Amino acid sequence: RRSFNLVIAVDGPAASGKGTIAKAVARHYGLPHMDTGALYRAVGLAVLRRGGQPGDAATAEAAARALDLSLLEDRALRDAATSEAASGVAVHPGVRQALFDLQRAFAAQPGGAVLDGRDIGTIIAPDATAKLFVTASPEVRAARRQAELASRGEVRSFDEVLADVRKRDARDAGRDAAPLVQAGDAALLDTSDLAIDAAVQRAVALVENRIGAM
Ligand code: DC
Repeated sequence: RRSFNLVIAVDGPAASGKGTIAKAVARHYGLPHMDTGALYRAVGLAVLRRGGQPGDAATAEAAARALDLSLLEDRALRDAATSEAASGVAVHPGVRQALFDLQRAFAAQPGGAVLDGRDIGTIIAPDATAKLFVTASPEVRAARRQAELASRGEVRSFDEVLADVRKRDARDAGRDAAPLVQAGDAALLDTSDLAIDAAVQRAVALVENRIGAM
């Protein structure tokens, strides 16, 4: 057993590889992992299913406060429309507040945890042991996202997916409430030219660096 709680914050833009890396790092250290984007996706999906607008704060907040956890298993969770709705509901401070305690408690569990999202190193776990900011060029991220969608039968053109990725980046980084930003003490990991295995190895090396510096 470690003498401290190993909390690892993994942030970055859409399709940067942060989810895959976070999952693999969690497995490496035997830690539980939370994909916080899935929470925003569940809220976005709930709003769409009610026929509401993600931009409507009251509807989005109500959906976040009554978060239906079964939506985390919904087949539509990773659809392009859900991604867009997730980014849309995530701008509302009330939505972020409603999801805060759940994420905070997950980060604070004995032994530690790995969380990935947009504001883990800045807001949810500012005292994390190690913070990674995972990124890649918009073109590389769009190509990955296009392949992921295609593998699930959602066929989209590269240009369309690239436009979506850029739009979501601009909204996630440009909002007032907990915008996507690299924490001052986060290590940058650019996965543009890295295969998954190499990216995971690099991530573990960066975490080991931080542990060694404690
Ligand atoms: O990680 P993801 O692409 O599944 O996230 C979907 C959306 O949720 C993302 O565009 C912005 C929002 N999000 C957020 O605002 N804060 C987080 N910690 C995670 C996701």
